[in-house]
Amino acid sequence: MPGNIMVKSCSDNDFPSKLTGQVLVCSIIAAFGGLMFGYDIGISGGVTSMDDFLKKFFPIVYVKKHKATENNYCKYDNEYLQLFTSSLYLAAILSSFAASFLCKIWGRKPTIQVASIFFLAGAILNAVAQNLGMLIAGRLCLGAGVGFGNQAVPLFISEIAPAKYRGGLNICFQLLITIGILIANIINYFTSKLHPYGWRISLGGAAGPAIILLLGSILISETPTSLIERGKNEKGLEVLKKIRGVDNVDKEYSEILNAIELAKQVKSPFRNLIMKRSSWPQLFCGTILQVFQQFTGINVVMFYAPVLFQTMGLGGDASLLSAVVTDSINVAATLIAIFTVDRIGRRFLLIEAVMQMLVAQSVMGATLAKHLKSTDIMPKHYAVVVLILICVFVSGFAWSWGPLGWLIPSEIFPLETRSAGFFFAVSMNMLCTFLIAQTFLSMLCRMRSGIFFFFAAWIVVMGLFAIFLLPETKGIPIDEMKKVWKKHWLWKRCYEDCGEKKLQEKKEDFKIQENLDDKSLA
Ligand code: BGC
Repeated sequence: MPGNIMVKSCSDNDFPSKLTGQVLVCSIIAAFGGLMFGYDIGISGGVTSMDDFLKKFFPIVYVKKHKATENNYCKYDNEYLQLFTSSLYLAAILSSFAASFLCKIWGRKPTIQVASIFFLAGAILNAVAQNLGMLIAGRLCLGAGVGFGNQAVPLFISEIAPAKYRGGLNICFQLLITIGILIANIINYFTSKLHPYGWRISLGGAAGPAIILLLGSILISETPTSLIERGKNEKGLEVLKKIRGVDNVDKEYSEILNAIELAKQVKSPFRNLIMKRSSWPQLFCGTILQVFQQFTGINVVMFYAPVLFQTMGLGGDASLLSAVVTDSINVAATLIAIFTVDRIGRRFLLIEAVMQMLVAQSVMGATLAKHLKSTDIMPKHYAVVVLILICVFVSGFAWSWGPLGWLIPSEIFPLETRSAGFFFAVSMNMLCTFLIAQTFLSMLCRMRSGIFFFFAAWIVVMGLFAIFLLPETKGIPIDEMKKVWKKHWLWKRCYEDCGEKKLQEKKEDFKIQENLDDKSLA
């Protein structure tokens, strides 16, 4: 297979280290950033299907929803309702850009603290919202929190984790995203019965993970890389010894110094990423992975599962419960990813999941096309079939494109462009999530069951990408990653010596000029 290139890792275990309690505690606290993100993903769908909430902020949708003759696929089509879900992602794009600078200038820890403060403010605003303006303002604050958090947390975990545990610890972030989604849906299940203000508890609940993160972040130590990068060498060395649990950290310390020295020579990482051919493979793969992650259609399930199930004729309660079932599968399958990713590799998981998701999306589309007509209610047993298919789809996503969409971009960039490159990945995730959140309900209304074939087509393209364009990065130390690209059948072209080529071209130009001169003299 063209993309299947393995490079033997040689210095993975060179740095003496233990998996210390300090690293574990810091990683888990930081991963609460994922819980904030996940809570928000999970809460929106349930809240937007609660009547009390719709009556207060979206009365038109409320009326439409209860019209017996309203087209099944269009019940919830309302651009303001979509704006409620998607406004968060717009704010997240802007703030992750700001966060990429803040991470460098202030450090990772303060950036995580800023995230939790924004998140707390957003949760309070949403819980007490009196009008649509307040509601959207709250969403924008939450979005800022998500942007700061998603930029800083994976970077933080990658920097404090010893190389051989980096994969598993990194996926803790995704694990907490999935737990956040699950908790949100359980809360929605109960608050939907509390009239008329249950939705306030759901939205205000976001304050929980934000407070835990804010208080927890006081306990965590800044990463050695960030301390040394900002000239605090002594403190950096002290923290490094503490988190590695050994005194002999000289080699890792000097490696960090080297990487920082190299990074200092790159004045503008963003320019470097865009202009330098050798940065293109990582930039392309890191960014497109996030596009593909979103175009699996996962957030259609995450945001709109209760709405989808109601569309298929399940009652409000059954709908929320079904969402809880799919979310539990999401958590369990992410655990599988934690234990397999460093053993069977990234590409195997990605390619296997493509087949699983493709079958699920196509059969789901066909079932809905056949059994969910515009105005009838779908027979219950078919709704259950669709629920099973959604579980097949979600589990495939959860052990592949979900966690690897975050892990791979965080491990493929060299230090000098790592945070800038990761920004492209984070913002692409937010942009695509925004696009899906903003357009899904209208697409469902217009394309009907065809929407599932639309996602199936994307999944085919993703499969081709994973097979032909994505190299295997399992077990490769982060600073040796360049070898992988240099050996890839396509990406190696970006590393061909342009200097040599240019010299050759110049020589040829010179020869032509000489010939011309000779001729004109003759
Ligand atoms: C994605 C989210 C998605 C979640 C589902 C994350 O990796 O970025 O958009 O909702 O996984 O578990």
